[in-house]
Amino acid sequence: DWTMGNYCKSTVARLREEIGPRGRVLLALSGGVDSSVLAALLAEAIGDRLTCVFVDHGLMRKHEGDEVESAFSKWKVRFVRVNAEERFLSKLAGVEDPQEKRHIIGAEFGYVFRDEAEQFGITDQDFLAQGTIYPDVIESGKGDADVIKSHHNRLLPPEVVARFKGVLEPLDLLFKDEVRALGRELGLPEYLVMRQPFPGPGLAIRIIGAVTKEKADTLREADAIYREEIAKTGEDKNLSQYFAVLTNSRSVGVMGDGRTYDYTLALRAVTTSDFMTADWARIPYEVLDKISVRLVNEVKGINRIVYDITSKPPATIEWE
Ligand code: XMP
Repeated sequence: DWTMGNYCKSTVARLREEIGPRGRVLLALSGGVDSSVLAALLAEAIGDRLTCVFVDHGLMRKHEGDEVESAFSKWKVRFVRVNAEERFLSKLAGVEDPQEKRHIIGAEFGYVFRDEAEQFGITDQDFLAQGTIYPDVIESGKGDADVIKSHHNRLLPPEVVARFKGVLEPLDLLFKDEVRALGRELGLPEYLVMRQPFPGPGLAIRIIGAVTKEKADTLREADAIYREEIAKTGEDKNLSQYFAVLTNSRSVGVMGDGRTYDYTLALRAVTTSDFMTADWARIPYEVLDKISVRLVNEVKGINRIVYDITSKPPATIEWE
């Protein structure tokens, strides 16, 4: 009968079979729940024939790149970090359309894996693995008509796919809560299993309009303050996901005796179990007030804070 323990064992067996006795795997690792669980699953299946590659696209949250690196350098798996900020920012320069951003980022991840694979000893007889989960597949759709938004891991260019013997996505039938249960089965620590999701395209889809390094820095700072306050008040236990969005709207404000004309920052927080539908979270006003005061005082370039009170549907969780 079906238990997570049995599912885990049979998936490990199936992966060993598919990868073969000498096959190697390059895992696209973001440090999030899905790819971390997949890292543990693949480590179980093939041990040191696994190489986890973390591509830092410069659109991670504050300190996140270093945190991922220090977390994984404690694991027994081989971990490499590739700094690709310039590569991603130059490809994204001037791009405003959300789907176009997603396509560029998804493809660029693929090109980085293709370009770097050889130096990690990955041949064309080896595999690329991604932590794609079921909602990524569903929301990315099959034809253009069904697309809600293309998740970054559905966008590998054909020439990238052709570089490898195959692409492994063993979590592609699981929902988020099942991925978490699988992570626990594999012995991952609770803080890792319960991390809130962070989308592969990162801050690029939380900066409305064209992405610049300056805007990414502003949003990184604001998002860090938001998360710090939420954690401090213990509200994080009530939330499935929460983050800040840098809108492309500027409005007039007054600071001291001076006029300001700065950006509006939106705060988003939702509760959900499957991320396919979600409710906006009823964060206490006092908590929102403290966050708002800190943000306008501490983050340059922001003079107005709004709170997103739309559920999914009709909105989605991310703004792009
Ligand atoms: P939406 O915005 O579609 O998000 O309601 C649902 C969940 O998916 C995350 N998300 C992504 N995760 N790659 C990912 O790995 C992506 O391209 C992507 N887009 C959205 C989002 O953060 C939320 O948890």
